[in-house]
Amino acid sequence: MSVIYNKDCAQFQLNSRSFTYLMQVKDGYLLHLYWGEKIDNRDHSYMFWEQGRAAFSPRQENCGGFILDDIPLEYPCWGRGDMRTPALEIINPDGTNIIDLHYESYEIIDTKPSLEGLPAVYAEQGDKVQTLIITLRDKISDISVMLYYTLFEETDILTRHAVIKNDSKQSVFINRAMSAAVDFDHKNFDIISNFGTHVRERNIERAPLKYGKYTMSSRRGASSHVHNPFLIMASPTADEVSGEVYGFVLVYSGSFTAEVAGNQFSSARTVIGLNSEEFGWKLNPGESFITPEAVLTYSPAGLERLSDNYHKIFRTRLCRGKYRDIRRPVLLNSWEACYFGFDEERLKKIGTCCADIGIELLVIDDGWFGVRDTDNCSLGDWVVDKRKLPNGIEGIYNHLKPLGIDLGIWFEPEMVSPNSDLYRAHPDWCIHIPNRPRSEGRYQLILNLSKPEVCDYLYASLAEILKTGAIAYVKWDFNRNMTEVGNELLPPDRQREVTHRYYLGLYSLMERLVTDFPDILFESCSGGGGRFDAGMLYYMPQVWTSDNSDAIERLRIQYGTSLVYPMSAMSAHVSASPNHQTDHTTPFDTRFTVALTGSFGYELDPTSLSEDEKAAVLRTAGIYKEYGDRIVNGTYHRLRNPHEENCAAWCIVSEDKGTCIAGYVLTHVRLYENNERIRMRGLKKDAVYVEKFSGREYSGYQLCGYGIPAPLTLEYRSLLWIFEEKK
Ligand code: DGJ
Repeated sequence: MSVIYNKDCAQFQLNSRSFTYLMQVKDGYLLHLYWGEKIDNRDHSYMFWEQGRAAFSPRQENCGGFILDDIPLEYPCWGRGDMRTPALEIINPDGTNIIDLHYESYEIIDTKPSLEGLPAVYAEQGDKVQTLIITLRDKISDISVMLYYTLFEETDILTRHAVIKNDSKQSVFINRAMSAAVDFDHKNFDIISNFGTHVRERNIERAPLKYGKYTMSSRRGASSHVHNPFLIMASPTADEVSGEVYGFVLVYSGSFTAEVAGNQFSSARTVIGLNSEEFGWKLNPGESFITPEAVLTYSPAGLERLSDNYHKIFRTRLCRGKYRDIRRPVLLNSWEACYFGFDEERLKKIGTCCADIGIELLVIDDGWFGVRDTDNCSLGDWVVDKRKLPNGIEGIYNHLKPLGIDLGIWFEPEMVSPNSDLYRAHPDWCIHIPNRPRSEGRYQLILNLSKPEVCDYLYASLAEILKTGAIAYVKWDFNRNMTEVGNELLPPDRQREVTHRYYLGLYSLMERLVTDFPDILFESCSGGGGRFDAGMLYYMPQVWTSDNSDAIERLRIQYGTSLVYPMSAMSAHVSASPNHQTDHTTPFDTRFTVALTGSFGYELDPTSLSEDEKAAVLRTAGIYKEYGDRIVNGTYHRLRNPHEENCAAWCIVSEDKGTCIAGYVLTHVRLYENNERIRMRGLKKDAVYVEKFSGREYSGYQLCGYGIPAPLTLEYRSLLWIFEEKK
């Protein structure tokens, strides 16, 4: 049993492989006692600690009870004395905002419940998983909260969410409802998070927690390029392989907040959930509200283990579908090859060329529908542009099929161009506020997916194309953030529900599509990585990592993304040199080595390649085909940090530890520097490995101990090693 209720001391103890998470009921309150290295099962009451000197913070029950402002609480509420960041804030029918939750009951089940309408981690038969459900209630307002904790014992994962129910006879408003809150008895942490922007996503920031709040958030109606919905708390000395680290990830694609506060007694409180700056929800009598899921993990052994916990759970118990555990088809995307400038003849030529160089799937990106010769029209009109493709999608499909190449297609379903038939027919289907200007971004507006008829239209128009059977892959793009948010069909007191309702609409639309078209590989995209989040991964197992396809830039982007997200989720392509975004000239092999870590493809015009380059594509596509399954399911080790050094290095070790694919790239010229050697991790020390390209043999001890020399001096040069165990 990994979830235990110790009746004698009213303690809930959740034990995973490496951690213990501990709560206690005391004087009616649900207290948080401990989260950290695994401990034995016994009475842990001594861990409860109240300073008792919060001079200005009132005590409960007429001065005899707790100082709520001072104690570790499991799901803190606003209104009764805890002045720190709350998890829950309710507006009562009388307009006051107080809720005071007391313990009512618990239940332990041996499954992982799904979250209705929301993406979430799931369990499969045979998983060691248990769920603890604790019900809290405010007896005065009759609002209850069910806290869900599912423990994946073997992978050190704890998922959490809350269900808020109105058992009263009047409506209330939820002002704030976090998915998880955790109190720590000290604030001696570094906070690690991602920051960035379009084409520069997921840089890493590491900063000591100070007094006051540290907030990573998005109010953009998307998880965004700017911050990512996760937060890591690390002991100050923690590095890749040592030290305690805690992770909080939200399974959500819209606006979010992740906050840590250093409080008055040098304690810390972390919360993660919907962004309450824009969120609100009216809860009528008898109704429930489900928060998105938060996925928590703990590593006693540094960041690498934390990332590995997330990679495993997201890859195998969040992603779904037939591509979950296998390498993805080697694709060639038309975007950087032709942008909007293609027609049937050009695509056919590209397709024919693809067949000779090992490509398995040709993706027609933006520009195949409406009259879209540039980005200022036609979104919403998902009808083939017969000027460009006179024989329709089928014309291309019929050309590719005998060549053994599948066809993929780009959509941006959530958008509408003002210059489109859809907009002319339904000007009110976009997100807007009546009588206010509608701000365009990239000449487009966002369809209001909080309106069911809009979702139905989108399902029908996409399904119309997908059901032809011609399409094997869909790239699902989303190229602006939300403004003028409203839904004129909802009453004024429900306007703060719109962005969350939008995501409920989007999730239900995607669920219908992935269910009805299970053989299609869906790839999420938002100008690259503007919605690289766990919510999207539930529907689409890979994401176009960034619109920056420069291999050297990608080193940093992919490194930052790997903190939380698996390599198989990162779509990575070999693009043309000089690169279209940065003008960097980079050797082909370097571009390949960097792209090989992710879901692999090419983003260039194959008809313009020299014979040597074509041979290089054929050779490298072959390497991905041979090792792709091992890469998808392998363990990723970050060996050098391109955010801090003038190089990057990593290795991916297959599940059986029999194969290790390692890459090294110099990001800056290095003349007459010290000898460089790269030490592998995760290998069988006493095995002997043969390096594929050189034929040299090394023991696991050698590769992990001394390492392998990396004698590069010139900028953007790289080394790729594939070590295979000698049988
Ligand atoms: C943004 C995407 O990230 C690109 O890859 C491409 O699909 C363009 N949109 C097309 O408009």
